Amino acid sequence: MAVEMEDQLQLKVVNSESLPDADRSTIISLCNRAYEEDLEPLFNTFRTATHALGYYAQSLVSHAMWVNRWLQIGTNPVMHTAYIEMVATEKTYRSRGFVTAIMKCVADEIQDFDLGALSPFSVAYYERLGWELWRGPLFIRTDSGLIRTPRDGDVMILRLPRTPNLDVNAPLSAEWREGELW
Ligand SMILES: CC(C)(COP(=O)(O)OP(=O)(O)OC[C@H]1O[C@@H](n2cnc3c(N)ncnc32)[C@H](O)[C@@H]1OP(=O)(O)O)[C@@H](O)C(=O)NCCC(=O)NCCS
Repeated sequence: MAVEMEDQLQLKVVNSESLPDADRSTIISLCNRAYEEDLEPLFNTFRTATHALGYYAQSLVSHAMWVNRWLQIGTNPVMHTAYIEMVATEKTYRSRGFVTAIMKCVADEIQDFDLGALSPFSVAYYERLGWELWRGPLFIRTDSGLIRTPRDGDVMILRLPRTPNLDVNAPLSAEWREGELW
């Protein structure tokens, strides 16, 4: 899929299975520069993902991806969740609305999931785009039970057509995973 944005950002959505190695390396380099850290080890933990890629003049300048997670409110049925990761824009291309466009594209693409979720760098940034801060306690599900996770890393959710009625003050859990828990 490719959509031409008014400011020349071209958006593409690609599954990790069909992502050429060279493109994968370009994404990791972009994220490393944006976050100013080596994200390759973390990136390698995301086995199956879908990438939203923003190109400006044929160069990759913005990126976000989503992975499958299984979030659960209390003991309600688990929700198939699109969990957003690695949101980044190349420094010289920031503040042009590129990630805003990427996140709108992501929201359109994840409509068949039960829920969208992410760990934000800024709550206000994502609130603007319709995401809501989870206010209840956060837990990770493990084989030996629930681990409560501290609230220093926030979690935000995006309601989608299949999202059940939910109360953002309720306890929320996700399955344990390698790398970053939230
Ligand atoms: C955050 C980031 C992805 C935004 O990308 P972008 O393409 O510039 O985003 P947009 O143009 O859509 O939005 C820009 C707005 O983001 C907001 N913003 C950027 N960084 C911010 C921060 N650390 N805290 C709060 N708001 C921030 C500003 O309000 C900015 O508005 P301005 O143009 O008036 O300054 C980009 O700055 C980046 O790659 N940062 C480093 C990596 C990172 O923190 N990723 C997010 C992880 S969830």
